[in-house]
Amino acid sequence: MKKVKMAILGCGNMATPLVENFCTQFENIDIFTYTPSQKRAQDLAERVGGQSCATLREIPSCNFYLIGCKPQQFGDLSKELKSLLKGDETIISLMAGKNTGVIKNELNVQKVVRLMPNTPVKVCQGVHLIYFSPEVEENEKTLLEELFSSCGEVFVFGQEEQIDVVTPYCGSGPAYIFEMARILISDLQTKGISQMGAEKMIKQMIYGASLLMLKSEESPGVLREQVTSKGGVTAEALNVFRDYDWEGSFKEAMKKAYDKTVELSK
Ligand SMILES: NC(=O)c1ccc[n+]([C@@H]2O[C@H](COP(=O)([O-])OP(=O)(O)OC[C@H]3O[C@@H](n4cnc5c(N)ncnc54)[C@H](OP(=O)(O)O)[C@@H]3O)[C@@H](O)[C@H]2O)c1
Repeated sequence: MKKVKMAILGCGNMATPLVENFCTQFENIDIFTYTPSQKRAQDLAERVGGQSCATLREIPSCNFYLIGCKPQQFGDLSKELKSLLKGDETIISLMAGKNTGVIKNELNVQKVVRLMPNTPVKVCQGVHLIYFSPEVEENEKTLLEELFSSCGEVFVFGQEEQIDVVTPYCGSGPAYIFEMARILISDLQTKGISQMGAEKMIKQMIYGASLLMLKSEESPGVLREQVTSKGGVTAEALNVFRDYDWEGSFKEAMKKAYDKTVELSK
């Protein structure tokens, strides 16, 4: 892989595991980190053998700039960053809802990559939704896809709007699974099962079910039927979910989350 110089602007929950993975898998990356309070930039630079910079001005010219702050923090960052860029850099944005047009305008650049990862990148099992603005060069696309593949599955979209459509499902999706786990664990405890036992069982159940879905040729619907005998225990539970319109709740939740993505992008 060609030598890559990458600035990491914002080193939080999402950017940190991504960069750690890049640096574990690839040798040819020089990393420069920056955060306003410095601590997380220093920690990340130390872990990956990069250099932390106390100010944006200290960052040497890079070919890639990964924006890892929250969308509402971008205004402060872009004001200063804009004057430091030449315009031919490639910006990789993790920010939910900020579209490439806005980023191009605010930073006066052309090449923008929108990346929507999810937290399982921490265990190299992420889902990466990617949109490349048309100006991003083919060799850069190949390189970035290779980098992101090091910590999950990459899905490239030809239309930027599709990233917003899929974000509530895959970007936010782990939260729904964690919430389901939390509810089941706490309910088991009320039935006299120890917290440690309940956690172990529920986590293994979700892990096993996920692995089965991934490895099986059957659809999730068929796999569900295989656990559901007529008049049996599972059917009884599924009937309650149906009575409470679980499917409708999921659809409504996805709609509301999508509306929020659109609202944030304005
Ligand atoms: N969490 C998720 O599941 C998820 C999934 C997909 C995408 N995202 C996106 O990833 C982005 C980061 O989320 P996160 O959960 O990683 O946030 P986070 O943990 O709060 O981290 C934000 C980082 O941005 C830094 N920051 C704040 N203002 C800045 C500025 N003006 N210039 C440069 N850096 C600045 C913070 O610095 P300090 O360390 O000094 O506070 C911190 O290091 C968000 O845009 C979010 O939409 C998150």
